[in-house]
Amino acid sequence: MPCTVVTGAFWGDEGKGKIISYLALKDRLDLCVRTGSVNAAHTVWYQGKRHALHMVPVAFINEGCRLLIGAGANVHVAKFFEEVEATNVKNRIGVDHQASIIEEKHSMQDKTSAHLKGLGTTGWGVGPAIEERVRRAAKLAKDIPELKPYLTDVAMETNEAIDADKSVLLEGTQGLLLSLLHGTYPYVTGRDTSASAICSEAGVGPTKVDDVLVVFKVFMTRVGAGPLPGELAKEEALRRGWFEIAAGTGRERRSAPFNFELAKKAVMINGATQAAVTKFDILYPECKGAKSYDQLSGEAQQFVSKIEKQTGVPVVLIGTGPEALDVIDRRN
Ligand code: IMP
Ligand code: MG
Repeated sequence: MPCTVVTGAFWGDEGKGKIISYLALKDRLDLCVRTGSVNAAHTVWYQGKRHALHMVPVAFINEGCRLLIGAGANVHVAKFFEEVEATNVKNRIGVDHQASIIEEKHSMQDKTSAHLKGLGTTGWGVGPAIEERVRRAAKLAKDIPELKPYLTDVAMETNEAIDADKSVLLEGTQGLLLSLLHGTYPYVTGRDTSASAICSEAGVGPTKVDDVLVVFKVFMTRVGAGPLPGELAKEEALRRGWFEIAAGTGRERRSAPFNFELAKKAVMINGATQAAVTKFDILYPECKGAKSYDQLSGEAQQFVSKIEKQTGVPVVLIGTGPEALDVIDRRN
């Protein structure tokens, strides 16, 4: 059974939540590790219900899956408990002792710091919380009494699961172009978001990973400030059906056509072995709900081929609707 890292290609909101929810059910995931922090909302539609998760791993929809939050993550305690309650995962979620804590003061700093002005951060305080951690002054999960029942060694649990041939997924947040190291600095988030960083936050070495699945959306979107090549006017985005509102913050997303050069960069830096492309039904409405590749129009199939040819990785999963199971799976 493989260990797969799921990572975003662009500026987040590629549909990682949707793809991971599909894998959670289809691949019967045994263990899923969430990385990053509360700034990222992962959306899951399952059995007609929508969940926008900021802390709980998306794979919660598979009731047999162990859910973990890695050492590299920043835990928002109130949001954690709110979501644990809403998803009813009290008995199968764990938090690494060394995950750090993000608090209200970090959010205040995010909103008032002069050097962050104009970046359009989510306002959750992730940058300031990471700054505090770098100063070796952060509060950790093990310092929070309410978290005691959930504390675990995530690196140990995850590596043991991999060694026991369990099905493991490492859930990345945001996308490569929001990476502190490889993105459009200074218009980036406070961490590296590449596949290597996802492994590092979970405590899994690169030799333990079988697949890196990079997630693209058929068009690109971005919230907050910073460059977006090929950006469309809002009227044009609305006309094409590409206008989106952010799941986490309610902000309007800017949009642009798929960019092959950026896609190639995302494949290279993530070391991607496979790709998923979401929202095919938005570009090609006739594909809505399709479950097999033959159901795609010629034009849609050509788009898939072009992505494969230009990036050099196979497009194994194609999203054709919002529900977890609205996917064309080409892995076999
Ligand atoms: P921060 O991560 O809150 O510091 O925000 C820095 C930049 O990353 C801003 O442009 C945010 O809009 C963007 N950002 C952070 N998290 C996400 C996400 O989950 N999806 C999309 N954009 C994000
Ligand atoms: Mg999101």
